[in-house]
Amino acid sequence: MTLKLDYTNFMADVVSGGISSADWRDAAATFSRAHAGFTRRRQANELGFLDLPGNAALHKQSTAFANGARGQFDDVIVLGIGGSALGPIALRTALLKPQWNALSKDERGGWPRLHVLDNVDPRTIAALLDRLDLARALFVVISKSGGTAETMAQYLVIRGRLQSTVKDVGHHFVFVTDPEKGALRTIARSESIPALDIPPNVGGRYSVLTPVGILPAALTGMDTAALLAGAADIAQRCTSETLGKNAAGTFATLQFLADTKLGRHIQVLMPYSDPLRDIADWFVQLWAESLGKHKTPNDAGIGPTPLAALGATDQHSKVQLFMEGPPDKTVSFVAVDDEPVKLEIPKLHSDVKELGYLGGHRLGELLDIERRATAGALARRGRPNLTVHVDKPDAKHLGSLFMFLEIATIYAGELYGINPLDQPGVELGKQFTYAMLGRADAEQARREWNMLPKPDERFTI
Ligand code: PA5
Repeated sequence: MTLKLDYTNFMADVVSGGISSADWRDAAATFSRAHAGFTRRRQANELGFLDLPGNAALHKQSTAFANGARGQFDDVIVLGIGGSALGPIALRTALLKPQWNALSKDERGGWPRLHVLDNVDPRTIAALLDRLDLARALFVVISKSGGTAETMAQYLVIRGRLQSTVKDVGHHFVFVTDPEKGALRTIARSESIPALDIPPNVGGRYSVLTPVGILPAALTGMDTAALLAGAADIAQRCTSETLGKNAAGTFATLQFLADTKLGRHIQVLMPYSDPLRDIADWFVQLWAESLGKHKTPNDAGIGPTPLAALGATDQHSKVQLFMEGPPDKTVSFVAVDDEPVKLEIPKLHSDVKELGYLGGHRLGELLDIERRATAGALARRGRPNLTVHVDKPDAKHLGSLFMFLEIATIYAGELYGINPLDQPGVELGKQFTYAMLGRADAEQARREWNMLPKPDERFTI
């Protein structure tokens, strides 16, 4: 089994602030309706991410390209934002050796370094470009729409730099985009730049198991087959319409009830594992962009607020707030049950009370004990929490975690009665940006922008 969900500390039987038996009983029918909605979306071919583990032809695009590129590049640089960057970042943190980009080529087994540029801060981009040997660099431009302003701006800056530095610019690019639509696809066609597909029915934040994640993974030697196998395993185990038998559906229902019945609007994902730390950021985007929605144009808006934390580090930061701050949060721990590296704490200073008790234990043991202690302490204070267990932070379990959280997000969308696959709320800000940058088709946004109040001296210090 690749993943296990323990929600004991979520239930009122054991935690005073938890979900009551009556609410849990009623939730069975609510979940069953959500499952029917999930099934309808699946039948309407909207949930393309579920089919990704079995899409051998799609994965071959990544592995074939990566095999052809082997040995030609020392640096792979992903350009993307949102769902087109957070998956590659989570994969890099989890599956490449710590300090990967600082290792020598030999230590990396000949595989390239991996950078992800997910912003347009000129300081970061200029610093990286100044350091790279462009002749040995491959830029993976990822954009489902093929026209996102930030990614296109990065592409233009890098293309400008390449044109003045290398002979064959096209050799240094590979695009990952919609199979038919968008500017990147058009450029790829007209210049014969390789372009890999993001299936039309897989949205950005659900796309980590398309070439969005699989190509950077294959280019840097990660075990892509295991990633997909782990995802397939959990997808197959999360098909029951019975609450309590479907782990992803149960996770979604618990969080939904916590938000709507217990006023626990803030939902924390807290791995106790450095390799899994960036999966929390990936989850924040998935949960926030999918679930923060208006039901009707004029309502106040609904949806939980996700938050990322890291154990044990945040025990010295956010956990004080989780324990004693407003009772408006749930905490979902991610536990790694095996100890991948056994590092014993030496028995030194055995006569010093604050140090002596640590000697003879292992660091992995300490980390796990701290997680259990925090979960128990939260439960004791009436703060619901649950734990997602994985055996290891490896490719197979990471694939399971991605798929588990994606399925849970669709169930949560059904429970809230909103569409978890769109993101209309980000559109207006984009249009205002286009207006200010003078894009030709932004006339309407320009008019709206000009009508907005400007900074007022009375309210400026
Ligand atoms: O999840 C999403 O759909 C978004 O976060 C997108 O990934 C993000 O806006 C980038 O879009 P694109 O891949 O089209 O450049």
